Amino acid sequence: MSKKIFSGVQPTGNLHLGNFLGAIKNFVDLNKEKENECIFCVVDLHAITIKQDKGQLQNNIRETAATFIASGIDPNKSIIFNQSKVQAHAEGSWILSCMSPMGWLNRMTQFKEKAGKDKEKASVGLYIYPILMASDILLYDTTHVPVGEDQKQHLELTRDIAQKFNKDFNCEDFLKVPEPLIKKKFSRIMSLKDGLKKMSKSDPSDLSRINLTDTKDDIINKIKKAKTDSFAIPSEEHDLIDRPEAVNLLGIYSSISNQTLVKTLEEFGGKNFSDLKKDLAEVLTNKISPISDEIKKLINDKGYLDNILKQGASKAEEIAGKKIREMKKIIGF
Ligand code: TYM
Repeated sequence: MSKKIFSGVQPTGNLHLGNFLGAIKNFVDLNKEKENECIFCVVDLHAITIKQDKGQLQNNIRETAATFIASGIDPNKSIIFNQSKVQAHAEGSWILSCMSPMGWLNRMTQFKEKAGKDKEKASVGLYIYPILMASDILLYDTTHVPVGEDQKQHLELTRDIAQKFNKDFNCEDFLKVPEPLIKKKFSRIMSLKDGLKKMSKSDPSDLSRINLTDTKDDIINKIKKAKTDSFAIPSEEHDLIDRPEAVNLLGIYSSISNQTLVKTLEEFGGKNFSDLKKDLAEVLTNKISPISDEIKKLINDKGYLDNILKQGASKAEEIAGKKIREMKKIIGF
């Protein structure tokens, strides 16, 4: 059955292995299925919920688009654009904010994590960020949203908002209720320095993540320095309980190699972490280095990237513009 796919990635620099394994790798697979309609958005309006440097933001928008293409997304078979170029996203976000109870937003754990202790100082944008995300998704009649595990709660909110709009305005099925596509395994890649912390762009330690622009030497060095524990690698999954760093490294190996954890444990059970690290560095460099080389090449071709984003925005505008006009009519504007 054909799917309407929509997903987004923030252009905040340092796209990493978590973004790749949790999301972008799945975008590529979904884009390969002929019957799917795919829209991949560089969510620059989301990025400014935290202060951005003006010149850097522009570069990061291009780099995110380059990462999509370098990873294998075909720009001729999908729409790639940046969010700020299609006005309907911000407009839809306002309309949906007016019908979303604060209580729903107060439950969002990512806001609590990002705002930290001093939440009075966090921007209102950061607080209502999941509503902009709902607007992104709902404007395209999206059926499926591929994301990493950390976005699960935001997708549940999107579903609730769609249903509430349809009920409040008595327009059954106008906003389509989307399904999340979250891989059962390996959808939350953890920091290389702390197996209990998510791999993240904002971690001050660059050793905590593999960036998609890292060189071969960077990758080898980071895997060498990755935290482990002092036991051998087990053969059975249940022996991985309370060993978060081992789970993470074995999970990364399995995900990159497209194999189950059981198979990876068969391969490494009884061996030392040094053996796993050697092979892990190799599979990672084999996968990431060609992507990294291609990103660096594409970034130098600003004209090419800008053209893809421009064409993508024009196609996106056609779909989202129509939906927002219908939405406004339903409301009574
Ligand atoms: P963002 O930019 O933080 O992350 C982009 C994608 O990468 C996934 N991801 C991870 N997956 C596994 N392990 C990790 N350590 C990891 N870190 C990040 C995220 O789950 C995400 O899929 N709000 C979204 C962007 C967004 C969006 C949307 C997504 C805006 N509008 C509409 C889907 C649909 C975000 O900040 O992702």
